[in-house]
Amino acid sequence: MLSTMRAHARREGIPVLSSGSARFLTHIVRLAKPSRVLEIGTAIGYSAILMAKAHPDVHIKTFEKDEALADRARGYIREAGLFERIEVVCADARDIADNPFDVPFDFLFIDAGKAHYETFFEHLSPYLAEGGVLLADNARFMNLDKSEAPKRHHRLIERMTAFNERLERDRRFDAHVYDIDDGMLLAIKEDGDATLCDE
Ligand SMILES: C[S@@+](CC[C@H](N)C(=O)[O-])C[C@H]1O[C@@H](n2cnc3c(N)ncnc32)[C@H](O)[C@@H]1O
Repeated sequence: MLSTMRAHARREGIPVLSSGSARFLTHIVRLAKPSRVLEIGTAIGYSAILMAKAHPDVHIKTFEKDEALADRARGYIREAGLFERIEVVCADARDIADNPFDVPFDFLFIDAGKAHYETFFEHLSPYLAEGGVLLADNARFMNLDKSEAPKRHHRLIERMTAFNERLERDRRFDAHVYDIDDGMLLAIKEDGDATLCDE
C-alpha cells in the first residue's frame, strides 16, 4: 500500500516524504508513542498512514489545503482501514482557529508551506503538551546555502534559517536539526528549561 502510494506520488509529481525522512518519522513515532498527532501537510496521506501504522494507539488530525489531494488521501486512508484514526481536514493550516483536539496534542509534524513554518509554530506550539514532540521536514532546505541556490529560493532559505534559530534559542524546546535527506528539525517541549546538551 505505502509503496503503491509512493509510486503514484512520484508518477504525478506529488511531494511525499523522502525514504530517509520517512524512516526517521517512523522511528520517532514508535519511540514517542503519541496519542494525538497534528500534521500540517497531508498530500495523499502517505506520512499520516505511516504514522498510524507505526503506533496502533495514535489518532491523527491532518490538514491539507488542496481539496483534490485531501479527497485522495481520504480514499487511501479508507483503503488502509485507518479512517477511524486519521481525520483529514481540508483547510489552510494558517487558519486553524484554536486547539484542533480540544486537549493538547503530543506530536506536531510540519511538512507544508516551508515559508510558513514559523507561523504554524507560533500558532500551534502552545497546544503541544509538555514532553510533546515537534518534527519539521525540509529544515535544511537547499542546505540553507543561498550561494548555491537560485535567487527565487533565497527568501525561503532565510525564513527556514530563522525558524531553526528561533527553535534553537527557545529554552522551552530541546531542538536540533538532523542531517537526514532535506533536514529534519526535532524538538521536545518541556515546562521550563528543556536543554540538556549545550554545544
Ligand atoms: C510535502 S507535501 C506533504 C507530504 C506528506 N506529509 C507526506 O509525506 O505524505 C505538502 C502538502 O502541504 C500542503 N500545504 C501547503 N501549505 C499548506 C497550508 N498552509 N495548510 C495546509 N496544507 C498546506 C500542500 O498542498 C501539499 O500537499
